[in-house]
Amino acid sequence: MTATTSPLGALLDPTTLAGLPLKSRFVMAPMTRLRSPGGVPTPEVAAYYRRRAENGIGLVITEGVLVGHPSAGHETTVPRMTAGPAEDGWRRVTDEVHAVGGRIAAQLWHLGGARQPVDGIAAWTPSGVPGNSHPMTLTDIDAILAAYRDAAGVAVRAGFDAVEIHAAHGYLLDEFLWPYTNRRSDRFGGSPAARAAFPAGVIRAVRTAVPATMPVIVRFSQFKERDYAARIAESPAELATILDAFATAGADVLHASQRTFSTPAFPGSPRNLAGWATHLTGLPSITVGSVGLTRDFLRSPALDDLLRRLDAGEFDLVALGRILLGNPAWVTLAAAGRLDDIHDYRKADEETYF
Ligand SMILES: Cc1cc2nc3c(=O)[nH]c(=O)nc-3n(C[C@H](O)[C@H](O)[C@H](O)COP(=O)(O)O)c2cc1C
Repeated sequence: MTATTSPLGALLDPTTLAGLPLKSRFVMAPMTRLRSPGGVPTPEVAAYYRRRAENGIGLVITEGVLVGHPSAGHETTVPRMTAGPAEDGWRRVTDEVHAVGGRIAAQLWHLGGARQPVDGIAAWTPSGVPGNSHPMTLTDIDAILAAYRDAAGVAVRAGFDAVEIHAAHGYLLDEFLWPYTNRRSDRFGGSPAARAAFPAGVIRAVRTAVPATMPVIVRFSQFKERDYAARIAESPAELATILDAFATAGADVLHASQRTFSTPAFPGSPRNLAGWATHLTGLPSITVGSVGLTRDFLRSPALDDLLRRLDAGEFDLVALGRILLGNPAWVTLAAAGRLDDIHDYRKADEETYF
């Protein structure tokens, strides 16, 4: 199916992202699935990602993968990026995705204050907010930078094509970006530039552990999982300060997480958050948020709007999240106009795994 006859248009075109060739402009958004007992991705996990890669997804981004520090997360079925069985499991995943011409990025994750205190270890946060969490010392900061560096090294050995740093949704890195949770008075808190210093340090640490040619993607958001109205940047100028710090530290691609891709990021312009990211930094960006959730999307003005924004260079790639849970072949089917074989997203799809 060519771009001219499919409703998906230029989204089906091969492209390159920071030098990485991709078979389409579709990304699989990172989605936590809790299917990796002991932190080790199973053959079922490899088959799950392969199924999306062989059905038109150019770049798979894994679910959040915990870096190897006890404070990163406690959930035992969330995968980890550590040497040993987890690395072997990830090698199987990257082999399967590559076997079908796909590319795959590992999303590195530290839950910060969203981690529950377990075994007497409190959650680690910038300033002890939310309450009962442990405000990170400078020594703690160094330990987490080392954990990210080590995890990136494991990702390289396991065959990943790229690394994504999760700095969105209210988890540790975003807690540094957000003034509500970052009340530090040292060089890691205060102005937007200071709040960006720790996430930028993580980017630098990851950069040192991966080849110069490997794309480093940074995912960020205004909203928090527990506060949709929260913001890290009140204006384009504040956002520019934060994203410039990411770019200087070595970010190659910005992944701007929004709940709906068409929502303007700031008053006075229709540009979305990914659009602002590219506009302010010149870096390629990924947009996401409510793309394709219903079958009707494929014959709606919303798809026209998405394609028009892509054509205008607002962003480079489009991520699909929930629709891929129950429709692993969504891109293939939509490209062929086989709408009857697609079903709308339903919450119950989150309980399935295939
Ligand atoms: C079940 C589920 C798990 C998710 N887990 C993650 C995650 O681990 N990391 C992340 O950055 N976003 C995560 N997200 C957010 C998605 O990546 C995506 O941004 C969101 O679902 C919006 O895209 P959509 O409307 O296409 O689903 C998750 C979303 C869902 C539904």
